[in-house]
Amino acid sequence: MSYPRIDLAGATIAITGAARGIGLATARAFVEAGAYVALGDLDEAMAVQAAAELGDHAMGHVLDVTDKGSYAAFLQATTRWRGPLDVLVNNAGVMPNGPFLEQSDRIDQLTMDVNVFGVIHGMRLALPAMVERGYGHVVNVASLAGKFPLKGLAVYNASKYAVVGLTAATRLEMDGTGVSVSAVLPSAVRTELSSGIDYGILPAVDPEDIAAAVVRSVRTRAAETAVPGYVGLMANASGLVPEPVLRALRKVAHDDAAINGVDDSVRRVYLDRIEKQ
Ligand SMILES: NC(=O)c1ccc[n+]([C@@H]2O[C@H](COP(=O)([O-])OP(=O)(O)OC[C@H]3O[C@@H](n4cnc5c(N)ncnc54)[C@H](O)[C@@H]3O)[C@@H](O)[C@H]2O)c1
Repeated sequence: MSYPRIDLAGATIAITGAARGIGLATARAFVEAGAYVALGDLDEAMAVQAAAELGDHAMGHVLDVTDKGSYAAFLQATTRWRGPLDVLVNNAGVMPNGPFLEQSDRIDQLTMDVNVFGVIHGMRLALPAMVERGYGHVVNVASLAGKFPLKGLAVYNASKYAVVGLTAATRLEMDGTGVSVSAVLPSAVRTELSSGIDYGILPAVDPEDIAAAVVRSVRTRAAETAVPGYVGLMANASGLVPEPVLRALRKVAHDDAAINGVDDSVRRVYLDRIEKQ
């Protein structure tokens, strides 16, 4: 596998879900590296405001990744602004939590629509032009929940396992085209999405740590980058551990945090936001 080097100075980059959290931190990191970044988000006012604060290397645009037409309009606006897309970051995502049997069909659908179909739409729309140029990089922000199941996150787990598989298979299909597809797999990150959940011993990192991994992937083109790295190794190794041993370890680690480690008053603010989507 060899890929033409992407020079971030002057590169054109689009990021979904970039009005806040990991997407915004990633936009800032790319702007600091000299790239031009289009910030797409469901919350147009926040995306435009965030871009204005980042300066003339940033542009905010409304985007609903579940709507292929909206995604196409976002990418068209990006290429009109700065020319062909060099890097696409599929970052937009939602994370409802709670017992599987208590989740609503509507929120299940939303989770799959945003977390899975949003990524499919983005790649279907952006990859053809990249393949034609023999140049480009796609980063899908998945999760360690795409490798390791957790109580209280079943449908979110399903969506992130889907993104991990989708990324791996499209990466193979892109072989020889000069275009790379990579996944970044964060552990718990301090953003609104995970607010109110006490993950116990699971390490929490900052959005800037994920942003640095996304930027690094432009150089390394690594298939998967877990943050922190050792948690990725643990998630991969967990498949080799006999189930009774794993269950005992899970108990020590309080693996029911997304059900029983929740501060409802804090969590409600986030859940209300995604319920309104
Ligand atoms: N925070 C964590 O603990 C964590 C851990 C692992 C993976 N992730 C993943 O990282 C990504 C970013 O998460 P975050 O923590 O920054 O979340 P966040 O809630 O802080 O930000 C997500 C952004 O996506 C936007 N968005 C939601 N639905 C959208 C849609 N349909 N179209 C366009 N934009 C939409 C929201 O408006 C929001 O601005 C997600 O894919 C998430 O699953 C987060």
